Amino acid sequence: MPNSLDPHVLVIFGASGDLAQRKLVPAVFDLFRGGYLPKNFALLGASRTDFTDAGFRDKVVFNNEHFDKKDATDEDVKAFAKKLFYQDLATYDGEKDINNLSKRLKKLDKDLGVGQNYIFYLSTPPKLYSTIPGALAKAGLNDNKNGWARIIVEKPFGYDEASAIKLNQDIQSNFPENSIYRIDHYLGKETVQNLLVTRFANGFFEPLWNRNYVQSVQITAAETVGVGSRGGYYDESGAMRDMVQNHLLQVLAHVAMEPPIRADAPSIRDEKLKLFKSLRPITKKDVKNQVIRAQYTEGRTKTGDVVSYRDAPGVPDDSKTETYVGMKFFIDNWRWAGVPFFVRTGKCLPLKLTEVVITFKNPPQALFSEYDDFALSCDNQLIIRIQPDEGMALEFGMKVPGEGFRVKNVDMDFFYRDLTKNDVPAAYTRLLLDCMKGEPTLYARGDSVEAAWAFIDPILEAWKNNEVPLYSYTAGTWGPLQSDALWSGVGTGWRNPVDSLTDKKHYTKQ
Ligand code: BG6
Repeated sequence: MPNSLDPHVLVIFGASGDLAQRKLVPAVFDLFRGGYLPKNFALLGASRTDFTDAGFRDKVVFNNEHFDKKDATDEDVKAFAKKLFYQDLATYDGEKDINNLSKRLKKLDKDLGVGQNYIFYLSTPPKLYSTIPGALAKAGLNDNKNGWARIIVEKPFGYDEASAIKLNQDIQSNFPENSIYRIDHYLGKETVQNLLVTRFANGFFEPLWNRNYVQSVQITAAETVGVGSRGGYYDESGAMRDMVQNHLLQVLAHVAMEPPIRADAPSIRDEKLKLFKSLRPITKKDVKNQVIRAQYTEGRTKTGDVVSYRDAPGVPDDSKTETYVGMKFFIDNWRWAGVPFFVRTGKCLPLKLTEVVITFKNPPQALFSEYDDFALSCDNQLIIRIQPDEGMALEFGMKVPGEGFRVKNVDMDFFYRDLTKNDVPAAYTRLLLDCMKGEPTLYARGDSVEAAWAFIDPILEAWKNNEVPLYSYTAGTWGPLQSDALWSGVGTGWRNPVDSLTDKKHYTKQ
């Protein structure tokens, strides 16, 4: 429900960039359409490109292919555009520039009564994440006496544990922790939040949600696209830093954490931190057995023909950056001791989808095995589709009508689209609204970002020293065959899904 937010200004550093165009401005427009924005609100774009206010409005609203006006009228769109302003900067963190920004903020307040509450969104190259907060603090914009100041930091938050610690220190020396919003857009996805509701609003899942009944847990985030024009960025990052350290560990936390004592930010974030600290470290010597890295080679995906990763623009010919990660690890706590967790992500896979699969243990006795081989290997699985075709399916065996006791796998399903006729809010829309309210639950806390890096670091270290092979896979396949070996001794294997959550016709292995 629309509510009354404090008047404020959302300052987007890096406003001429891709993220502002694709996600941020459309998300603010959704809030405007939904009646969430306060009457006295302004969005101030700031970057090095030389725009007038009108030029900026053209770029991010009127001539922006990612701006979908949906059911809004042209009048609405114009009214929204009037709330957008622009300030160009010679450098992002120069004293003169930030003083100009400060003057502009005061002027906006004078002209529009938008007050002195500020959100500063850092959507710039990461090297500026330390220096912009310092420059804002110098200009007194971090702690003005007449309002609040919050700062949103885009990913990547650090490059490894040491750099994340340093970045935390740099930002925290200028903004208090409760004003720092580290964004991870997976946390803004309704279905990721719904993992908590599924587990903690129902009585019957939780008793099964542990080592006594769960055989394994797998999380897949597959993408059909390659690196496209992002080769320069991606080659410095790779799938582990780009997807696993942040998005997939956050999903894991929602799947595996203990029940929080309350549904508030400190309680939920405390449990996540505990979970990250319970991850059994993958030592350098275990990396080759537990983590598979690979790069895609030329092939064909749903989006068309793809050149091999090393031939993508911005990628060196001898790049060792992984575009696929498959890994197996354990959580050392009472709930999960001994249960293997599997996580994989990759570019140029057959489908774009994210899902979590909980596989339950078989019953103690295979009573019907003489009638059906299936009864020996019945996978009772709960499949939670994060995106697309959002929903859940629970698979279990039922008797085939007729003689004997033949067992067939059936499923019960639920689709998120049946729950509401309204648009499910986009991740950035929800997250921006939360920051405007001062609600940090769906943002990552500094200590848990560091803990997530601490788990990932030894793997990156072993890769850097070339202690483990870099495999390859043809674009359009489910990744390297070596990744299947992670399942040795566990059974089951990766579930290679199809578009629709419940369509079993095409379940295929590799
Ligand atoms: C981003 C990564 O954070 O997440 C991209 O940098 C990736 O490489 C994207 O494509 C995936 O997000 P989503 O919401 O499309 O699953």
